[in-house]
Amino acid sequence: MAKKKIMYECMACGYESPKWLGKCPNCGAWNQMEEQLAELSGTQSSLKVQLTTSKRASQGQARQLHEIQYVNEARTQTGFQEFDRVLGGGVVSGSMVLIGGDPGIGKSTLLLQVSIQLANQGQKILYVSGEESLAQIKMRAERLSLHGSDFYLLAETDLQAIANEMSRLEPDMVVIDSIQTMSVPEHTGVAGSVGQLREATNILMRMAKDNQIAIFIVGHVTKEGNIAGPRMLEHMVDTVLYFEGERHNRFRLLRAVKNRFGSTNELGVFEMMDVGLKEVLNPSELFLEERLTGATGSTVVASIEGSRTILAEVQSLMTPTAFGNAKRTASGIEYQRISLLLAVMEKHCHLLVQNQDAFFKTAGGVKLDEPAIDLAIAVSIASSYWNKATRVDDCFIGEIGLTGEIRRVSQINERIKEADKLGFKRVFIPKNNYTSIEDGFNIEVIPVATIQQAVKLIFN
Ligand code: TYD
Ligand code: MG
Repeated sequence: MAKKKIMYECMACGYESPKWLGKCPNCGAWNQMEEQLAELSGTQSSLKVQLTTSKRASQGQARQLHEIQYVNEARTQTGFQEFDRVLGGGVVSGSMVLIGGDPGIGKSTLLLQVSIQLANQGQKILYVSGEESLAQIKMRAERLSLHGSDFYLLAETDLQAIANEMSRLEPDMVVIDSIQTMSVPEHTGVAGSVGQLREATNILMRMAKDNQIAIFIVGHVTKEGNIAGPRMLEHMVDTVLYFEGERHNRFRLLRAVKNRFGSTNELGVFEMMDVGLKEVLNPSELFLEERLTGATGSTVVASIEGSRTILAEVQSLMTPTAFGNAKRTASGIEYQRISLLLAVMEKHCHLLVQNQDAFFKTAGGVKLDEPAIDLAIAVSIASSYWNKATRVDDCFIGEIGLTGEIRRVSQINERIKEADKLGFKRVFIPKNNYTSIEDGFNIEVIPVATIQQAVKLIFN
């Protein structure tokens, strides 16, 4: 008989300790330690993974570099270009992908649409839901007018039963919606506890790798915006995607935060319609759609997101502080960048921002986090402060240094091209980029060296 022992495990990071602690020494979370029963011998799960056709290479022997042969991982296009691009060019067989997002954002809808599209291409798909009944899923599929032939649904939370179905059906792809509802019966702890999550993910990971099944798991997100349960879940899987958006806004952004098979800065844009998610292949138009002409504090930037350029609107609002400390908030832009730019504007353009409340927002909820957005933000600050609008067909590109200099940015031609394509008439760019721009643009390109010079050109 294995001896039982009580261990305490941090619900946030999975750290284990023989005694209870108020604060986790590993991740610093308070009050997260929970009692777990640990078996002293035989900690391996007794769950049998029954798929036999293991394609795993020989193990335990080191090889020289030149002896190792590989084929590029097999990828399947889903027919959703936005989805494929974020994955790095399609679904990799044998990979495990975690999709996180707020409840109700559309994770189940997205995976249902992707699954049925793949089923229609002749792939065998198993969709396991621990949250909805078969009838509910079927109703949704009907509402989306989706019909798939080799598409199997299973309403189940017991991983042993799921593993059995996987070995019976031998699917190409499996969806687990959601990992927090799954449980391994042999393991202690309720579904969603750290131990259960780790064990369930481990088993699924082994099945994915040994049998070349692509597995998508849905993970719920906590109020702080992390995938609920331990960070460890993110470390275990190959790819982590976040599906984001504001609930009352119809745009949804799919973003990779970790990807063993591709770049992590790709962005996929979708629109939630009555008939499910629709891809947005030209997001610039959509992000600029509701822009007011002649509004102060609004500017447009050409920002690079992964392999494409997106034009986005930056808005700022400066108003005198009513009492005490000035308020500052930013959504879609990093707060630190804002503070720095406010300081630069105060020092070099003589804006008295210390007694101004300042609010920042990107239109459409897009997140911008690259240095080239600095100039657009700085100009929008000045525009709101002086209550003077910029020209509606101006676009701004450039990083700003602490001395007010405008610094060179990457991929300048792609950015100018996108602004040109969407009908902008003038683009302000860093002076040091000016020599490398290509010919043939209709847009007027204006090089600027400092923020003082830019502000003078724009507002006089
Ligand atoms: P869902 O995929 O269930 O979200 P999640 O799995 O992330 O919790 O999406 C549910 C929301 O999407 C719900 O508020 C209704 C909305 N929705 C539409 O607007 N159109 C549709 O065609 C569908 C299926 C859902
Ligand atoms: Mg769901």
